[in-house]
Amino acid sequence: MPVPAHPTRRSLLFGTAGTAVLLGAGARTRFGTDARPSIAAVAAREPIVPAAHTSVRLDAAPGTVELGSREVHTWGFGERVPGPEIRVAAGGTVAARLHNRLPAETTVHWHGVRIDPAMDGAPGVSQTPVPPGGDFHYRFVAPDPGTYFYHSHVGTQLDRALYGALIVEDPAEPLGYDADWTVVLDDWIDGTGTDPDAVLAELRDQPRTAQTMESALLGGTAGHVAYPHYLVNGRTAAAPEEFTCSPGRRVRLRLINAGADTAFRVALGDHRLTVTHTDGFPVLPVTVDTLLVGMGERYDVLVTLADGVFPLVADAEGKNARAFAVIRTAPGDAPTASVAVPEADGRLLTLADLVADPCVDRGDAPARGVDLVLGRGPNGTRWTLGTAAAPDAGPLRVPVDTGERVRLSFTNTTRMWHPVHLHGHTFQVRSATGRGPRKDTVMVRPRETVTVDVLADNPGEWMLHCHNLYHSELGMMATLGYGATPTTPDASMPNMTRDFA
Ligand code: C2O
Ligand code: CU
Repeated sequence: MPVPAHPTRRSLLFGTAGTAVLLGAGARTRFGTDARPSIAAVAAREPIVPAAHTSVRLDAAPGTVELGSREVHTWGFGERVPGPEIRVAAGGTVAARLHNRLPAETTVHWHGVRIDPAMDGAPGVSQTPVPPGGDFHYRFVAPDPGTYFYHSHVGTQLDRALYGALIVEDPAEPLGYDADWTVVLDDWIDGTGTDPDAVLAELRDQPRTAQTMESALLGGTAGHVAYPHYLVNGRTAAAPEEFTCSPGRRVRLRLINAGADTAFRVALGDHRLTVTHTDGFPVLPVTVDTLLVGMGERYDVLVTLADGVFPLVADAEGKNARAFAVIRTAPGDAPTASVAVPEADGRLLTLADLVADPCVDRGDAPARGVDLVLGRGPNGTRWTLGTAAAPDAGPLRVPVDTGERVRLSFTNTTRMWHPVHLHGHTFQVRSATGRGPRKDTVMVRPRETVTVDVLADNPGEWMLHCHNLYHSELGMMATLGYGATPTTPDASMPNMTRDFA
């Protein structure tokens, strides 16, 4: 079993019992039961000195995982989902010893981290995958504070349990909050009578019979897979995770979408959400009722908790299903997953709402433009990331020079939205004023063009792909590489010459 190398804030917060204080009658809320005394738990955040070095063992292995309401057989990092949460101080080192007990090759990718390319876990681009029985020792500095995650980058393994949160703490954290909760969202099918490889085979071989789920918010097709379960921190809506704190406390929620084919619309009953970060990087705070989180995206929000028991919902957008958790600051019955949460239909965060915090704003320097097209192959069995002239020319490499600024424009010609992710960098999304958010994953809706500025400051070969796992497996994948020709640490690697379909 992997052991978290560092106690999480939650365990520190709730590991101490016995100092509960009875307050007066609780306020009546829509979700809480009323009139019972509320309990002020021990919720003051103890000062944490973030770890300058974190070691973790990641044993990738088949096993049985308990989802709260059922058990499934899957592949995970130990018999748990998500895998262990890793926390480290910004500037500190993560040492993760991967041991592969799977019947397949694997890697670990550190999603969003400006990392040494040799540690990026991109199979065939920066790393030879680790064979069954093999080991790999990942060791890297986490330079930027924020909310990240890690996951296998081989085949459909991300759609199993091979993922976990990576939280890089700021030793000089400017935000004030009393508790810090990680909320990992996932769509789950493995071990329910089918598995992700069977899903991929069906999407590849019979794209026309695949289910189509529509969403007005997403501007077209929402996804391809109607999952039997949607999870918050590895638990189904029937057996939800319950977060506990006391009324009036301010909580930082770190939302991570580790799903493969689902956008989640997140809302908290009776509360508004103040968005402070996306993909690890700070934005000027903006308060909304609800936000959409695409696969691979992260959002940090602050909420000041009212008195009661509240539903934290993550609606699987366009799929008529929900991931669900409960936030409790008072005794009483918890709402059930079917509860109506009007906030989910309230003011929705848009990309235009997000403005980079001045400390991470890169301004408006001129950049070389590269136009890319997100497309679909003629018979519907392939998804493509190419140029207007050659939308489906096979794996594309975008060459850049060190220090250069490159403006990538993604034009989506398909009926489905795509969360486009670049490894090893955090780009700045272009808005009318050039001051959009710093991100590493951005949603591009049907018929939309989204433009991002990349500062080429991390030499290597980097994947650039759709974070819909089934799209990237069916071809929607390119690379951004430094210099005219690829340089990889291992010359024997296929280096993006293979056909991903
Ligand atoms: Cu999280 Cu290449 O991906
Ligand atoms: Cu896609």
